Amino acid sequence: MGDNIQYLTLNNGIKIPILGFGTYQIPPEETKQAVLDAIDVGYRLIDTSQFYNNEAEVGEAIRESGVGREELFITTKVWISNYDYEKCLDSINESMEKLGLDYIDLILIHQPLSDYYSAYRALEDLYDAGFIKAIGVSNFYPDRLTDICSFKRRVIPQINQVEVNPFNAQYLAQANMEKNGVQMQAHSPFCQGKRDIFKNETLIKIGNKNGGKTASQVILRWLVERSVIALSKTTNKDRMAENIDIFDFALDEEDMLEIMNLDESKTSFFNYQNPETVERFYELL
Ligand SMILES: NC(=O)c1ccc[n+]([C@@H]2O[C@H](COP(=O)([O-])OP(=O)(O)OC[C@H]3O[C@@H](n4cnc5c(N)ncnc54)[C@H](OP(=O)(O)O)[C@@H]3O)[C@@H](O)[C@H]2O)c1
Repeated sequence: MGDNIQYLTLNNGIKIPILGFGTYQIPPEETKQAVLDAIDVGYRLIDTSQFYNNEAEVGEAIRESGVGREELFITTKVWISNYDYEKCLDSINESMEKLGLDYIDLILIHQPLSDYYSAYRALEDLYDAGFIKAIGVSNFYPDRLTDICSFKRRVIPQINQVEVNPFNAQYLAQANMEKNGVQMQAHSPFCQGKRDIFKNETLIKIGNKNGGKTASQVILRWLVERSVIALSKTTNKDRMAENIDIFDFALDEEDMLEIMNLDESKTSFFNYQNPETVERFYELL
């Protein structure tokens, strides 16, 4: 299963699993069991956020899993309402209490909105103090990422977590991240199940050619071939096992080109360059 999960090295030397388990939209009452199942099938990277309202349950699962702290890689994200230097520090203190951890492996600025620079300065200080092993951003388009890489105080983000799936492949964004030394991490690799992605004919054909792999396995393998860290979510343990069973096959150039042809370079969720997106997040606060 996930025994042979691979690792990448971030720009500060920290190792990170190339596959991770996401907890967005898992209700708090289901989160502990889901994370326990994910750890049991072999996931070592768990992704949560202050926004997901399930950090405490992720923490319970970490403690009950019996897996050593140093073997796990835990990510959380700072929400927009905490984008003030002091508020950001306080909110991370609260996240650490909820998670029951004395350090967090990775903390991201969740959205490229409002005063995210103040929050990033707080991340830099906590990073310097050793409370966070790696820091980064999320949903930063190339212009915003280049901006923060240029105007940072000290630390270049280690990660930029963005939507990446066959319909929004983000090849140019990845090139920009690589130029800046930032690792791309994919959220919503299955497009949250939209657009009948699990029945996509191209993905199914490629899966059949590769020994009967499923569309979800083809997508995750495609990301691994591109050296992109992939987070996926399911509350179904069989699917967790399916989604981590991707280290026994490889896609060839023809497969990669066919998947490239599915790219529409268009988000299925939010376009951060769209004023309505900004208004929508503002209304959420
Ligand atoms: N930074 C951000 O702004 C941001 C945004 C979105 C997500 N994320 C992170 O990325 C993670 C993954 O993205 P996501 O949750 O948006 O969606 P996703 O992983 O693209 O898709 C999840 C959906 O796929 C289904 N699914 C999973 N594996 C399957 C399989 N093998 N066969 C059939 N259906 C399957 C799940 O259903 P079941 O649960 O019913 O199996 C669920 O409906 C999140 O959990 C979160 O940690 C971050």
